[in-house]
Amino acid sequence: MVKKVAVLTSGGDAPGMNAAIRAVVRTGLYYGYEVYGIADGYKGLYEGRIERMHRSSVSEKMNHGGTFLGTARLKRFTEKEVLEASFDNLKELGIDSLIVIGGDGTYRGAVDLSKYGVKCIGIPGTIDNDIAGTDYTIGFDTALNTVIEAVDKLRDTSNSHKRCSIIEVMGRNCGAIAMWTGIAVGAEVVITKETGLDIDAIVENISEAAKFKRHSIMIVAENMIKIDELEKIINERTPFDSRATILGHVQRGGKPSARDRVLASTMGVKAIEALEQGLSGCCVCEIGKKLEIVPFEVALKDRRSDVDEKYRNFKILW
Ligand code: F6P
Repeated sequence: MVKKVAVLTSGGDAPGMNAAIRAVVRTGLYYGYEVYGIADGYKGLYEGRIERMHRSSVSEKMNHGGTFLGTARLKRFTEKEVLEASFDNLKELGIDSLIVIGGDGTYRGAVDLSKYGVKCIGIPGTIDNDIAGTDYTIGFDTALNTVIEAVDKLRDTSNSHKRCSIIEVMGRNCGAIAMWTGIAVGAEVVITKETGLDIDAIVENISEAAKFKRHSIMIVAENMIKIDELEKIINERTPFDSRATILGHVQRGGKPSARDRVLASTMGVKAIEALEQGLSGCCVCEIGKKLEIVPFEVALKDRRSDVDEKYRNFKILW
């Protein structure tokens, strides 16, 4: 009997997803699978937009950002009717295995689909680095480099004008992008769930910096505070004039870094090899220097919202 596997990307896109799809397709073909690509994540699965993929389907894709399969967030993918129709679309083509690339929402969809007997393997793809169980997710490294480049540019103008730059970065549930950026750019203040929001301490830090620096950098994780409010506070209570910038979706775009391409490629291979070993209902994780296969339940138990202890003591550096 011919082995058949499909692949989809879901949730927020992340640079490196194309390298993961490529690895899944090429490794699948190597192990004798018929490989299918699903357009626009679970939405395309529900709507039956599933196409056969060949070696050449993934040529010239690895160096591009985004996901060439397309992605979507389908809230209805918990409903019985939607799950059944999606399962039927796979069954009609004789596909019993599915590789899903995305974040925790994507994994939750795979857990639901597994209940119908679909063999699902997850690959962590999100710039937020917020999946429990894996040290790194695909896209985090590229997003960090994008953010750092932008902050370096803001620093130029902030220094010229003797200003404080307040920069909001993505990561709605996890402060990893903010914290790593803060260290990499030498920020005076980083605001994440871990640091909390202590306005008096922030004002004190920035005022202190104003005594010996021409500029100041503050990195704020999204959902912590409206940054125009923070801009007003800094203008009123510190010697600095300030400007707030929301980096937004620019953080999700761009060519994937070498690190993300390699991580995505090796994870794609590992996902197909997990299927070959008869595994399902689990996801690929990078733990230390190894790729491991971990049950979805472990990755979904606690959303990884924390930032490792060793990255938190940035304050002694400025
Ligand atoms: O999950 C990744 C992420 O980029 C978050 O950091 C951000 O809050 C969210 O996606 C934005 O989602 P959307 O593209 O749907 O606005």
